[in-house]
Amino acid sequence: MTEHSLTYGSEPGEVLARLRDLREFDAPTHGGRVLAYVYDSGMGELDHLASEAAEAARSLNGLDPTTFPSIAAMEQDLVSFVRRALGGDDRRVGGRVVGSVTSGGTESCLLAVKTARDLWRDANPELRVALARESRMPRLVVTSTTHAAFHKAAQLFDLEIDVVPCELDGSVRASSIVGRLGDDVALVVVSAPAYPSGAIDPVSEVSKAALALGISCHVDACFGGLALPWWPDTQTWDLRNPGVTSISADLHKFGYAPKGTSVLLHRGRTRHRKQFFATTEWAGYPVVNPTLLGSRSVSPTAAAWAIVHRLGAAGYRRLTASCARSAHAIEQAVREIPGLAVWGSPTGPAMALIADESVPESERVDPHHLADEIAQHGFQIQHQPGLTQSNGVRLPHSAHLTITPVTERLLPEFIAALRDSATVVRGTPQASASIALAAMRALGYSEERAPSPAAAWRILRLVGAAPKLPQHPGEGGALPQKMAPLMALAEQLPAPVAQALLTELLARVSEP
Ligand SMILES: Cc1ncc(COP(=O)(O)O)c(C=O)c1O
Repeated sequence: MTEHSLTYGSEPGEVLARLRDLREFDAPTHGGRVLAYVYDSGMGELDHLASEAAEAARSLNGLDPTTFPSIAAMEQDLVSFVRRALGGDDRRVGGRVVGSVTSGGTESCLLAVKTARDLWRDANPELRVALARESRMPRLVVTSTTHAAFHKAAQLFDLEIDVVPCELDGSVRASSIVGRLGDDVALVVVSAPAYPSGAIDPVSEVSKAALALGISCHVDACFGGLALPWWPDTQTWDLRNPGVTSISADLHKFGYAPKGTSVLLHRGRTRHRKQFFATTEWAGYPVVNPTLLGSRSVSPTAAAWAIVHRLGAAGYRRLTASCARSAHAIEQAVREIPGLAVWGSPTGPAMALIADESVPESERVDPHHLADEIAQHGFQIQHQPGLTQSNGVRLPHSAHLTITPVTERLLPEFIAALRDSATVVRGTPQASASIALAAMRALGYSEERAPSPAAAWRILRLVGAAPKLPQHPGEGGALPQKMAPLMALAEQLPAPVAQALLTELLARVSEP
């Protein structure tokens, strides 16, 4: 054991001191310097309130809201608040909207898919058998910018993911999605907005077509569901569209709650009940839950509940107005930075920066080099690899910005950092994965053959993309300082190889 590690049986003070030491290496979760992952309202009082509420609920078990009725009461309030915000209060539009509190966006998306799949199976027993005979599965229709949680859902729930390509600007044509609808589609997903581009998909047109065909239609508003209701000039993207059968919105994003809370709403009780798992067919207590987990913490729910009651719609409106002002100012500023552009037409608190391909290469600002450079100014923006779609159209690699209320406080500094960083990297071409590609080929890996953990690690080290491993027991690993070369691997290697390398990298970071 070294001086850096903590022995078992340590005093509480030592344990907490060690945790504080470890936290020093984390990116700052408050203050607006990290424009991804974290959603800081800028209101310190909300943090205190959330901590106290979380502590008050710490010992509860979310497994059973009948034993602990406070859980049911808090969930009722959260579902009711979000339902109203997302236009689900009007029962004349397609019936009663009901729902559940889940642990986050991914769980809400997974449950939306599972629910739709089970409904599809019930409604299509013969088609299911016919598809199975041809070794086919029902389809989950998404677009290239739909969140990866739906790819995970397709894998977990035995659906074939059918990805509709986007246009070059990241938008997707309603007709492209509608053209994919058919009786073997269990669910079509549209986003409001899509995380990679910040654009809202054509919800009205797609949900109308889905309704006419009797197909389930989910709106993934996990990211923007608690900002878009108060964002200026948006299309009707929510439950006011009668063809929208489910919708998800994360309280742990623009709800400003700590991580661990999202809401999934369904149109109609029948649909919602399909989300549940219930069994009396084992020797223990009847297990009946609407979520993927069994025993679960109620602290995130209590914290979200407290924040929603403190802010109310008026509070969310005020915070959203700040995000909208910042988004507008950043878009204006980017327009004046030669070689850099905003990708497509975002609506809401996300946008992606791309190289302006209308200017000569020597004047372009590569967004991944920009992201690496702006880190020197203390800002983190998120690298997004480019994507070559099934029709050959390549969506550009980009840098994602999540704009939160605290962005406004740092706007002049952030815009100056963008400008200065752009000046430094202008003309530097996108990083290349050519060494990794050569190594991969030499070792015989391909689309069909992914490397083993040991081989993946060898390649990562060879190309200088391996993380710094823990120096001492009980210390986490750290990613390479420059992410552009790593992102080039993600973009340029065959997907199975890139996925094996990134899996290895992440696994090693926390391997003891
Ligand atoms: C549109 C969208 N859907 C789903 C998710 C997944 O949410 P989570 O990370 O909370 O699981 C995200 C996360 O960013 C998102 O932006």
